Amino acid sequence: MSDAHNAQLDWDEHGQPLSRSYGDVYFSRANGLEETRHVFLAHNQIIERCQALPAGGRLVIGETGFGTGLNFLCAWQAFAEHAPRDARLHFVSVEKFPLTQTDLQRALALWPELAPYAEQLLAQYRAIHPGFQRLLLDGGRVVLTLMIGDVLECLPQLDARVDAWFLDGFAPAKNPEMWADSLFTELARLSAPGATLATFTSAGFVRRGLIAAGFAVQRVKGFGHKREMLAGPFQAEPAPRSAPWFARPLLPTGDRQAVVIGAGLAGCATAASLAARGWHVTLLERHDDVAREASGNPQGVLYLKLSAHGTALSRLIVAGFGHTRRLLARLQRGVDWDACGVLQLAFDAKEAERQNKLAAAFPDDLLHALTKDEAEARSGIGLPAGGLFYPDAGWVHPPALCRQLVQHPLIELRPYQEALSLSRQQERWCIEGQNGVLAEAPVLVLACAAEIGRLLPEANLPLKRIRGQISRLPASTASRALRTVVCAEGYVAPARDDEHTLGASFDFHSDDLAPSVAEHAGNLELLREISQDLAERLDTQTLDPATLQGRAAFRCTSPDYLPLVGPMAEQQAFNDAYAVLAKDARQVPETPCPWLEGLYINSGHGSRGLITAPLSGELIAAWLEDEPLPLPREVAEACHPNRFMLRRLIRGS
Ligand SMILES: Cc1cc2nc3c(=O)[nH]c(=O)nc-3n(C[C@H](O)[C@H](O)[C@H](O)COP(=O)(O)OP(=O)(O)OC[C@H]3O[C@@H](n4cnc5c(N)ncnc54)[C@H](O)[C@@H]3O)c2cc1C
Ligand SMILES: C[S@@+](CC[C@H](N)C(=O)[O-])C[C@H]1O[C@@H](n2cnc3c(N)ncnc32)[C@H](O)[C@@H]1O
Repeated sequence: MSDAHNAQLDWDEHGQPLSRSYGDVYFSRANGLEETRHVFLAHNQIIERCQALPAGGRLVIGETGFGTGLNFLCAWQAFAEHAPRDARLHFVSVEKFPLTQTDLQRALALWPELAPYAEQLLAQYRAIHPGFQRLLLDGGRVVLTLMIGDVLECLPQLDARVDAWFLDGFAPAKNPEMWADSLFTELARLSAPGATLATFTSAGFVRRGLIAAGFAVQRVKGFGHKREMLAGPFQAEPAPRSAPWFARPLLPTGDRQAVVIGAGLAGCATAASLAARGWHVTLLERHDDVAREASGNPQGVLYLKLSAHGTALSRLIVAGFGHTRRLLARLQRGVDWDACGVLQLAFDAKEAERQNKLAAAFPDDLLHALTKDEAEARSGIGLPAGGLFYPDAGWVHPPALCRQLVQHPLIELRPYQEALSLSRQQERWCIEGQNGVLAEAPVLVLACAAEIGRLLPEANLPLKRIRGQISRLPASTASRALRTVVCAEGYVAPARDDEHTLGASFDFHSDDLAPSVAEHAGNLELLREISQDLAERLDTQTLDPATLQGRAAFRCTSPDYLPLVGPMAEQQAFNDAYAVLAKDARQVPETPCPWLEGLYINSGHGSRGLITAPLSGELIAAWLEDEPLPLPREVAEACHPNRFMLRRLIRGS
């Protein structure tokens, strides 16, 4: 695919953007800012609703057509000026043709008064790839979920309750496909009780369609010379939500307090997402510091193993990659991470064919094919083949990311605290260690990788440990030519602290964490397959694997390679409640799910925790706060911890 998925713009004599494909303007030529304030803010009473938010409350705004983000920035400004300090704004918008960074910057430069907001948006506006992309702004107080794709395909994937709709998206005459009845039905499905809607158009078929869907819209005075526009409240019944086993558990009442067990990427990310929402988090870790187990390697790779078929895993990876990539902007580039690009070699015919399909399925700014010569020029070393290049990807020092995530006054990291058992007493989880109670809180998140099996044996979660080892290779003058991460079956990264990380072995049987010489030798073999030239630059012929330094840890995997993220039911009560599924899998009983109240899981991140664990923290917080999910509903369900109980029940095992 080319980069045609970005908006193709022309700029008029006043520096205003115009869409070449739709032949329409992004905002009023007279005054875009005032138009937004009149049409979308005033007619959804955004300022009044911000003022009326309770402490810790939130407003969810939905939009069709993100465009230049002008509406978003105006809503953010109103929120910043009128909402209580600890309230939150969720802005969910869909965009089929996202502007490039450069175009966005040029368009937003038109509004100097929005500059403080525009600068933050621009700093986060990267890795905006197809699917759901979450951007955290103002320390997480403002959350932007961008759905990149066609509105008619994206909205059905959204799980949210929207308080106010900004129905934008070019004039119906210029963009008739968008203003379809199926759009109005989706707006109704996603509306919270008391939701309102406003749109600049007054087209009769739009008014009739919205009314039929349940919006009591009326014609009101439009902006400037426009006679009319539409606005009004949603007045139908809210739509029922999902099957009970994937439904939203009742929200915990009382204080926002949680215990998180495990301070690897999953636990640190969960703590960060909760703290950003005002939760007091106690983070229990059995070692002396964060990132001492799987998340403790010197360098991990942002490795995207995608599918051209839009599988749940592939969609999770694109969304997770974007989120992690934006978080990394907070770390020191070159020391804690580097966006040096990742090259995946087409090391055999099958892989080359797979890569061709991926190159056709995804936009160029996410990945593109390089010939052998191009790949060598890019990576700086001799290679056996070309491959796929991911220009925004790179390597990360995972402990730095963990440390950054827990830098929040509401997070208390407690090292040397090994949880040995859990119990629920008086609506609180009580976590016990060797010398008694370690912590208690109404909400508990288990982020302790495969150790969850020991703390919660009755849940029968199919989590497996797979040992892996990386080798640390001292850089040489010649190896410093390596400029990108290069992967085949293994991976090698440009030097950090004068060492290259080379990985990684897989051992499905060993329980031993002492680095083994055989696995160092295996890693060197992986290096030779990646690049004989680099192996020579590192003088590996004369290198004795027994002298190599390295590190081993356990990955934690699930049978379907998706992580386990979300709330969890009590196994026996679940089987009793939904026993009928064993006879007829199509039944959807109405019995509410017997949740393990207040218990959540964030685990099973396999070999790609850098990509999946941070976004999973956002997903846990979204479940816990009844917020818009940061992922398509289907993907969140594919990651739901209840899925295994459900499958076992249906299979009758
Ligand atoms: C060799 C190797 C190479 C890898 N390479 C990459 C890569 O290139 N890119 C990538 O994205 N991913 C990579 N991964 C995978 C990635 O490291 C993991 O997916 C990620 O670190 C998982 O994070 P986690 O927080 O779930 O688990 P962990 O980092 O293992 O964290 C779990 C934490 O829970 C704590 N804990 C456990 N039980 C208890 C208890 N009872 N009480 C208190 N604390 C407890 C542990 O001490 C630990 O700190 C690699 C993994 C390995 C092993
Ligand atoms: C008038 S502009 C939006 C202006 C925007 N709200 C702002 O604040 O700058 C309309 C936007 O809708 C997008 N759009 C049009 N049809 C769409 C569709 N079917 N799905 C998703 N986005 C669409 C266009 O690409 C364009 O960015």
